[in-house]
Amino acid sequence: MAWTRRAFAVASIGAAFSGCGPGKIEKAPQEVSLTKTDFGMADSSPIQRFTLKNQHGMEASVINYGAILTNLKVPDAKGQSEDVVLGFDDLNGYLGKHPYFGATIGRYANRIAKGKFMLNGKQYTLAINNGENALHGGLAGFDKKVWHAEEVSTSNGPAVRFSYESPDGEEGYPGKLSVTVTYSLSPDNQLQIDYRATTEADTVINPTNHSYFNLKGAGNGDILDHEVMIDAGRFTPVDGGLIPTGEMRSVDKTPFDFRGAMKIGERIDADEEQIKLGGGYDHNYILDQEGPNATLRLAARVTEPSTGRVMEVVTDRPGMQFYTGNFLDGTLTGKRGIVYNKRFGFCMETQFFPDSPNKPVFPSPVLKAGDTFTSTTIYRFKTSQV
Ligand code: GLA
Repeated sequence: MAWTRRAFAVASIGAAFSGCGPGKIEKAPQEVSLTKTDFGMADSSPIQRFTLKNQHGMEASVINYGAILTNLKVPDAKGQSEDVVLGFDDLNGYLGKHPYFGATIGRYANRIAKGKFMLNGKQYTLAINNGENALHGGLAGFDKKVWHAEEVSTSNGPAVRFSYESPDGEEGYPGKLSVTVTYSLSPDNQLQIDYRATTEADTVINPTNHSYFNLKGAGNGDILDHEVMIDAGRFTPVDGGLIPTGEMRSVDKTPFDFRGAMKIGERIDADEEQIKLGGGYDHNYILDQEGPNATLRLAARVTEPSTGRVMEVVTDRPGMQFYTGNFLDGTLTGKRGIVYNKRFGFCMETQFFPDSPNKPVFPSPVLKAGDTFTSTTIYRFKTSQV
């Protein structure tokens, strides 16, 4: 395997052969390829689309506007690949108003109550962009930035690394923050997203990816028949503004219990307070952890029975927002001219818990000057029999 991985570095810079031991020349297996095309202009900057492709029917495309995952082709049980993420065919769609399709979210994913938090005895004020609260990094968060892109070599093979320097005070957040997001695709159908950040002054950080999945294929109806397992015994109930109350509630005997696989649609309209507040599922799950240190572990598995596509979410984050596209309302036309109606996609946003900067009982999202934040989330794909 080590040889194969070394070969990628060579393959990705265009050489057809690579050395394997003294005096031996063998053809490098180009298990994952990376290509690049122009995708238009944003803020007078050229935007490019990078496509990673493996030999098992998977293809992932990302752009340096918003570090957005625009396309994700995944094979079904019969080997037919289809794009399973909602989005647009061209850059204009992404430049317009949309609910964060495929985007990298930051500096702070999800909500911060009233856009205010205290850090080191000082109060910081953020833009209010969701009712009376701050959502997903502000008016021009990471999802609306032009990122620097470079092709790098990772243990999965060639990859795309986006980097962005967020100035001190941007969107109200303290500290000049340097952040990178690296997308790689493994030969065995894992899309891996690695985040890394450093700051010049203490700050808070909570990046995530906001892809909307539909394992039947983007635009092919709603996601209510998908079967979901979430390895979480508790979730964080919310108030009317979708801010966590601070309670960490057991999912036992509630519509939030996905410890055994259940269809999304089974209880989504239940006569239950939290379901009503979310308009369906729009809640943070507390991913059960074995120890104090975050380790990569299976957080969720989603099976789509008609195609046999299976997605697993593996992460080192303490939480995951399960959002069922309740705010999609048929006003957006996406890829292939298809209108995205309510619940046409679901998100599994791995994260610190919402409003953690104001909730000392939640895991801390503080990044201290001089420290390095790293996190990894993997969306991995398999098939089951249909
Ligand atoms: C997140 C939030 C939702 C909604 C979407 C974007 O997932 O939890 O409430 O704001 O983003 O529409």
